[in-house]
Amino acid sequence: TWNMANFIDSKIEEIRATVGDRQVLCALSGGVDSSVAAILIHRAIGDRLTCVFVNNGLLRKNEPEAVVKTFRDHYQINLHYEDATERFLEKLSGVTDPERKRKIIGNEFIYVFEDVKRQLGSFDFLAQGTLYPDVIESVSVKGPSAVIKSHHNVGGLPENMDFELLEPFRELFKDEVRLVGLELGMPEEIVHRHPFPGPGLGIRVLGEVTKERLDVLRDADHILLEEIKMAGLYRTIWQAFAVLLPVNTVGVMGDERTYENACALRAVSSVDGMTADWSHIPYEVLGRISNRIINEVHGINRVVYDISSKPPGTIEWE
Ligand code: XMP
Repeated sequence: TWNMANFIDSKIEEIRATVGDRQVLCALSGGVDSSVAAILIHRAIGDRLTCVFVNNGLLRKNEPEAVVKTFRDHYQINLHYEDATERFLEKLSGVTDPERKRKIIGNEFIYVFEDVKRQLGSFDFLAQGTLYPDVIESVSVKGPSAVIKSHHNVGGLPENMDFELLEPFRELFKDEVRLVGLELGMPEEIVHRHPFPGPGLGIRVLGEVTKERLDVLRDADHILLEEIKMAGLYRTIWQAFAVLLPVNTVGVMGDERTYENACALRAVSSVDGMTADWSHIPYEVLGRISNRIINEVHGINRVVYDISSKPPGTIEWE
């Protein structure tokens, strides 16, 4: 039988044996997989691990601050924080096609990461929180239909790699990584975090991505998550998020006519993200979220709830 404590002990031994006295760089996204990987590797080799956290400007509200606080302040891990917001937004300027956005964001991440790597000096290993499903999906033995959306967690690395990959979770599923995190004593807030796509809010601001639209979406998304957590629903949902639509609708606020953005709420249950059902969130909760978003978020005057399942809908809108 598969024993968590044994897995951790043997992985730590394996990492120590592999790395020796060499240096490891870890691309930390703040998500479950890379966070647990960072903590596990840190436990194995301590200061020979350096984490790089890139703020691409497409993260959720308060996310960059929380990552720095957790990993640098709390865990005392060497953490390089790179604010690349401007770089990403510049590249995304005027772009509306979802796949182009993904490519741009994926490529820019590699460029930024390479720049940071040059600054930091030489490393022998690159650590990633790659999971078994990522390995399977990127191999794409399922034919062209498997590449409906290009994921850049895997296979998005530069060709001329002068380092080895360190991927301690290559044979694990997400729920197993969560168990590893819990066994390592990590906070539930990280361990039970909803998945978040690499391109982030870049594919949730539909159409052109601008700083202003990102800020509007961040505020709406934050309210949604706050209310979902308050209602005790967070753990029963696979992913919950807001999507900013490139559509203005007419509304009325006080005596004034408004003409502002519509926003969609998306919440699904799923086991692996491959199929999903829309979540039956109680009407009262949906009502509270809608009221709060319309009242508190400047720029949104209408909220709709997405009741599409996957397939044929996808979880993300782009
Ligand atoms: P879809 O929208 O294809 O999403 O039903 C399935 C799961 O994958 C996530 N997703 C991505 N993750 N890069 C990622 O790292 C991407 O380009 C990407 N697109 C979708 C999505 O959030 C969901 O969990």
